[in-house]
Amino acid sequence: MRAVAVVLLLAVALAGCGETIPPAPTPAQALMLKPADPRLADLYETACKACHAIPGTGAPLVHDRAAWDPRWKQGEAVLLDHTIQGYKAMPALGQCVACAPADFQGLIRFMAGREDPAS
Ligand code: HEC
Repeated sequence: MRAVAVVLLLAVALAGCGETIPPAPTPAQALMLKPADPRLADLYETACKACHAIPGTGAPLVHDRAAWDPRWKQGEAVLLDHTIQGYKAMPALGQCVACAPADFQGLIRFMAGREDPAS
């Protein structure tokens, strides 16, 4: 009985180590998401949202951590570079001519589910 309790405790402790990835938003939820910052929200809604909030466009869906995490691992510098230069079906500048590099960084963080410094 005791051994079982120890095993269970270990399992709980180990599970606690792994980061739990929040579920992907539903298509309806994805359409409602926007950055908290008003400037970023404006840029997002006129550019990135057209692809990144619509499932099936080939763009990683906003706040879909399962889709973003492998990309995030490349590092923010690579993601920023891919946004500015374009990357496969992703158009250069994400069709946002008004975006400065700092805006792109904020937009990428938001879409990748990282705008919260704790995550
Ligand atoms: C016309 C559609 C479209 C628009 C608009 C768009 N994207 Fe994308 N984006 C894509 C697609 C498609 C991909 C996936 C490319 C691939 O990996 O095949 C992508 C991928 C990305 C990636 C991941 C690149 C990587 O290295 O994995 C980032 C970062 C990104 N987009 C940022 C943005 C930002 C920021 C905006 C708004 C300023 C934006 N995108 C607007 C279509 C779009």
